[in-house]
Amino acid sequence: MKAVVLYEHGGMDKFVYEADYRDPECGPGDVIIRVKACSLNYHDLFTRNGMPGITLDLPRICGLDAAGEIVEVGSEVSGWAVGDRILVDPRDRQGTGLFGETVDGGLAELARVPAHQLIRIPDNVSFADAASLPVAYGTAHRMMVTRGEVGPDDKVLILGASGGVGTGALLLAKILGAEVVACGSSQAKLDALTEMGADHVIDYTEVDFVKEIWKLYEKPHRRKHSGGVTVAVNFTGGDTWVKSMRCLRRGGRLLTCGATAGYDPNTDLRYIWSFEFDIRGSNSWEPEDLEALLQMISEGKMKVPIAGTYPLTEATEALRLIEDREVIGKVIVAP
Ligand SMILES: NC(=O)c1ccc[n+]([C@@H]2O[C@H](COP(=O)([O-])OP(=O)(O)OC[C@H]3O[C@@H](n4cnc5c(N)ncnc54)[C@H](OP(=O)(O)O)[C@@H]3O)[C@@H](O)[C@H]2O)c1
Repeated sequence: MKAVVLYEHGGMDKFVYEADYRDPECGPGDVIIRVKACSLNYHDLFTRNGMPGITLDLPRICGLDAAGEIVEVGSEVSGWAVGDRILVDPRDRQGTGLFGETVDGGLAELARVPAHQLIRIPDNVSFADAASLPVAYGTAHRMMVTRGEVGPDDKVLILGASGGVGTGALLLAKILGAEVVACGSSQAKLDALTEMGADHVIDYTEVDFVKEIWKLYEKPHRRKHSGGVTVAVNFTGGDTWVKSMRCLRRGGRLLTCGATAGYDPNTDLRYIWSFEFDIRGSNSWEPEDLEALLQMISEGKMKVPIAGTYPLTEATEALRLIEDREVIGKVIVAP
């Protein structure tokens, strides 16, 4: 089969396109899918770089988010048939595997998937929309809905709003009825965020987003529950971490699921206690998050912004767009 293979950690040149790579083998509890769409995530770049404390067996086919059609069914699998349209839940809850990281993933024509990781795609949901969901939108769903408890009374600040998790957080916050301030690093990103429903947008590379929040909602007051936003979403970490706190109203929730710009930022304990913040971490998703999202798309409540679709031969260019922060929404590779 054709596949994009990571033979060693390093730069983008470590992803190698192979026109004749070994086909996956179907175990008794597995199915083989023909991958129709694989969405990319920043995580693929972390895998390429190598992550501290995580040792991977290479070579590896990356691509955590895949949707496709079943072409072979293992002898012990029931309830699934050749031709079924499925989304892969990348987390193996019966093992320790992560599809596209610790086992081969979706940047290939074929993939092996344990049957307990299959989720049926409704007929009116495209493979590309389904493949956009697990890592970015599933994580956003858990962070905003389950952990964040965002609702119509909330004013939500989202940093990195133009990326995968960010657009998911924005769309979900709007579906939940909140007012949203979305931050991005270019006018093109701000225009797209406005189109997706953001009530206010800030180019934080041009202006200080803390001051912009104070202009919009007044400076948070330490004794009164007034001013600022009620929720700040920050999965970049780095030097925006303390700044997010300065935007938050007393009793506000600071939501995080990642640390793109640095996992050990300075913090300021004075804000946490005197403004009684609630810092809520959120990690990955449950199958119910993915089913809820598929349902929202099927019912027309949510439209996934897709930045572009690329063939396998151009997967490294597609990954470069993510690395260089040129992306608005999800990038799809269609093998
Ligand atoms: N815990 C989990 O289960 C889980 C699941 C999914 C993702 N995550 C984490 O969530 C984060 C976002 O993931 P994603 O897939 O949405 O990434 P993405 O699509 O690349 O989006 C991230 C956005 O963050 C902004 N950003 C700010 N500082 C950045 C920096 N130093 N480098 C790159 N981008 C920066 C960029 O927008 P601007 O240029 O407009 O600022 C970028 O569009 C990552 O850290 C990822 O590991 C965690």
